[in-house]
Amino acid sequence: MSDDTLSLLRDPYGFIGRRARLTGRDAFETRLLGRRAVCVTGPRAAELFYDEARFTRVGAAPLPLQLTLFGRGGVQGLDGPDHRHRKALFSHFMEREQVEGLVAAFTKHLEQQVQGWTTRDTVALYPEFQRALVLAVCEWAGIPLSEAELGPRTRQLVSLFDDAGALAPRHLRSVVARRLADRWAEDLINDARAPGAPLVPDSPVALVATYRTPAGDLLPARIAGVELLNLLRPTVAVSVFLTLVGQALRDHPEWRDRLRADNSLDDAFVQEVRRFYPFFPAAITRVRRDFEWHGVHFGKGQRVLLDLYGTDHDDRTWEDPHRFDPMRFHGDPPGPFAFVPQGGGEPQTHHRCPGEPITVALMKAGTELLARRLDYGYGDPAEQLDTTRAPALPRHGLLLHRPRERTTV
Ligand code: HEM
Repeated sequence: MSDDTLSLLRDPYGFIGRRARLTGRDAFETRLLGRRAVCVTGPRAAELFYDEARFTRVGAAPLPLQLTLFGRGGVQGLDGPDHRHRKALFSHFMEREQVEGLVAAFTKHLEQQVQGWTTRDTVALYPEFQRALVLAVCEWAGIPLSEAELGPRTRQLVSLFDDAGALAPRHLRSVVARRLADRWAEDLINDARAPGAPLVPDSPVALVATYRTPAGDLLPARIAGVELLNLLRPTVAVSVFLTLVGQALRDHPEWRDRLRADNSLDDAFVQEVRRFYPFFPAAITRVRRDFEWHGVHFGKGQRVLLDLYGTDHDDRTWEDPHRFDPMRFHGDPPGPFAFVPQGGGEPQTHHRCPGEPITVALMKAGTELLARRLDYGYGDPAEQLDTTRAPALPRHGLLLHRPRERTTV
């Protein structure tokens, strides 16, 4: 069996779905990073993927992703009661006041940047969103960040998700970024734990620094740092979805008019952006014990990849899945294994992302700005989404031409 690692890296969003259609099954065996693996797609496969009796997350992340995107020792690699206990720490950040606090900080910083846009001819959205999110998430989390640190820390946090799935030299940049970011986060935890440290009670940094395991122990500072970065990195990664909000308004200009006329459509619009546009290609787990499913053998220890993008475009769940249609979110909500841009199942018990409320709220703030607050053209009439990279992004970060405050409301 040939190794498909390069095919997956070259076509991160299409590879699994295409091969599954060729085999006529929701699961197929392959080789990735030199080892046997199984790829699965669709809502039934997603339900299987989150069955803890059949799969374990211990050691599931391949080394290149542990050295970049995930780090080592965090919640992603835990199972059972240890996972649920650590996950409860993250549930706190899904609460309404927490989400509102972060969105308020983001809106404030973005607002200040927008003042500067009005004298510029072109503005690239992706780096602007990154900057506002780094400022916001550090302020929200209780992390001091000097003016001089803003640029380097932004580059590190972005590299953790933007370069992790690339080939060298970008991948190596991500490895270096992880080393530097881990050291920074560990220092922040040690500072927070120092006697007399001016900790804001219930601030994210205080909660992570004082979290105790089921055995009653503080986490080693290095691992607490990884969990702190599990809040910072993905929040900054919302800059990708915010840029895709801009891309959706560019690809479907009729939606700019519809959102201007009716802001009650924001939620459906944002959900469709999360479904329609590619971001995370796949989630990863490992087989706990041998079993067969749909005629495919799942061997103990093998890695299993769930096709997130393909599941969000599966025509057994979604009518005309390759059409951008926010109105599909106006009916009954899709099931927990059918709509999986940030993983499936339940966030408290499964490995589903705990950051969905934050993501959706930040994307709505971006929609408010891009659909209703500003008038603008596009800096590059031919700028397209590059889907050969993960995350997929417009080639220049989505260039706006002469963005100006709207004068008519
Ligand atoms: C930028 C948008 C985001 C995307 C596309 C995204 C995507 C994902 C995906 C695909 C997973 C893995 C699901 C699985 O393994 O089954 C995940 C897990 C996770 N996400 Fe997100 N996420 C985003 C935003 C956030 C935010 C804003 C936070 C926190 C503030 C966050 C924190 C986490 C954590 C801690 C996990 C690990 C959960 C676990 O293993 O139990 N994410 N996310």
